[in-house]
This record gives sequence, C-alpha cells and structure tokens, in this order.
Amino acid sequence: GAPVEVDIGDLAPGQMRTVEWRGKPVWIIRRTDEQLAALKGLDSQMADPASERPGYTPEYAKNEYRSRKPDVLVTVGICTHLGCSPTPRFAMGAQPSLPSDWAGGFICPCHGSTFDMAGRVYKNKPAPDNLEVPPYQYLSDTRIIVG
Ligand code: FES
Repeated sequence: GAPVEVDIGDLAPGQMRTVEWRGKPVWIIRRTDEQLAALKGLDSQMADPASERPGYTPEYAKNEYRSRKPDVLVTVGICTHLGCSPTPRFAMGAQPSLPSDWAGGFICPCHGSTFDMAGRVYKNKPAPDNLEVPPYQYLSDTRIIVG
C-alpha cells in the first residue's frame, strides 16, 4: 500500500482523525495536556508499560507517549487480540460502562480489552499487546506521512 499523507494542522487537542493505510484504520489523535499527564500514573496497570515487546512499537515510539511528538498519537486502530476495532472513549469521569478510575482511551467491543491514551493495553485483558504504532514521519509541523 502507498503511504498516506495527513494534514493535522486543524486537529485540536482532544480530537481524533482516522485515515486508511493498507486497509487498516490509523488513528491520529492530538492529546490534551491532561491526557498526557495521566499516562505515567497508569504504568502499573499496563501489561507492557514501556512497550518492550517486539513488533508493535518502533524505536522512535519507545517513550512514555509512544509517539514521535508527545501530543500526537499515531496508532493502528485494530485490537491485538482478534482484530476488532476498539471504540474511542476519551471522556473522563463517571460513565456506567467504564471503570470508575477510567482515564480515557479505547475499549474493544468484542472481548473487553482496554487501552490507554497511548494505545497501551491494560493488564489481565484478552489482548496481549499494545496497539501497533505504524511507520510514520513528519513532513512538516502539520503534515504526517504514514507508511
Ligand atoms: Fe479485542 Fe478480543 S478482539 S478483545
């Protein structure tokens, strides 16, 4: 598949855009300061907090944000269990279907795996691995190329 160029100049904090790359959904999310700040405190709840397992996180994303630039997450929106597409659930606070301490992220509708705002999978869930970070680069401050 050809690389996909994405303009993120108008992507506001808290917003997400989906593009298709090699038939897969790729999510581009500009995280808020609050969402970024919450990540560190979640390490102990994560199956692979530092993204050390091979195959899902390129070197440039092996950092606490799993991204080239802290605010912008680029990740493949496919669950690492059996391939469903997780549902974005960014809202904080009480929602009946969410754990009471939910800090935002993604929930897989198929078997309930949950992921944080860096695409890291929570422990003791069916999905074994963090969401895949695809190959991508910045062409400029506002343009990303995926692939
Ligand atoms: Fe996502 Fe099974 S496919 S939890």
